[in-house]
Amino acid sequence: MNGDVVNGQGSDALAAIVAPAKGERRPNGGSNVAVGGIWAQSPDGVIGADGSIPWHVPEDLRFFSRSTVGHPVIMGRRTWESFPERFRPLPGRPNIVITSRPDSVPADGSQVWAVDSYDAAVALALRLLPPAPGADDAAPVGTSSRTDAASSDGPSLVPGTAREIWVIGGPGVWREAAAYAPLPLTRALVTTIELDVTGDTHAPHLDDEWARREVADWAESAKGVRYRIDEYTRGAATGTVTRGDGIA
Ligand SMILES: NC(=O)c1ccc[n+]([C@@H]2O[C@H](COP(=O)([O-])OP(=O)(O)OC[C@H]3O[C@@H](n4cnc5c(N)ncnc54)[C@H](OP(=O)(O)O)[C@@H]3O)[C@@H](O)[C@H]2O)c1
Repeated sequence: MNGDVVNGQGSDALAAIVAPAKGERRPNGGSNVAVGGIWAQSPDGVIGADGSIPWHVPEDLRFFSRSTVGHPVIMGRRTWESFPERFRPLPGRPNIVITSRPDSVPADGSQVWAVDSYDAAVALALRLLPPAPGADDAAPVGTSSRTDAASSDGPSLVPGTAREIWVIGGPGVWREAAAYAPLPLTRALVTTIELDVTGDTHAPHLDDEWARREVADWAESAKGVRYRIDEYTRGAATGTVTRGDGIA
């Protein structure tokens, strides 16, 4: 069954949803929802080849799961199709797929949704988020869900401590997310896989608007590949994005 295509909820409506109420104080100075991007790339920026990811690093897949489980994930149709059928939908998180052909996605309205724009994807993700915690309980969005960077298979995360939406690719969707004024991308988790690979899809370039913080230093995967994890943030202290899209 296809369906639950969300149309017609414009940026103004979203701005109203995410804006703080009068007098309300939020930890990031603005919205209490954080939108993050997450990807793995080669040192040259390759993220995909022939419709899939040209490496298998289980530690990074676990990091991806721990980062995104419990939160809505937004993706382009080709990223959805890049997952082997037995691994989709990604479990434990609402899967929101953007496509101009919603019939091409097996949306069921309970785990998988197909929408026809990024705007509609965010509107739906906001509806699917858990309720906002009380102001006193609110964890600092974008800073609270990562602990224990020294654990054996990468940092362990505590899902559900912040209201997060994760944009999981591909590059056009990350770019749209970065430029999306009502609720821009302010965080990116980037795993660098130390492989010399050729590919046809590349990570966006994060410009100097983004600050880098090492999450996990170089480690060797059980597969023998070295990898490192960094977090990039922008506007995190104030909830504002100062200039440009910050991404190219
Ligand atoms: N290494 C990583 O971490 C990582 C992460 C994600 C993806 N990847 C790789 O990247 C590749 C896929 O990325 P991609 O850039 O080719 O494709 P993509 O962004 O996943 O999907 C593109 C498709 O999404 C739909 N779409 C995107 N924005 C839209 C909008 N604003 N309105 C309507 N539809 C929209 C369109 O679908 P329709 O054509 O159906 O209209 C478009 O053709 C694969 O190789 C995948 O393995 C790697």
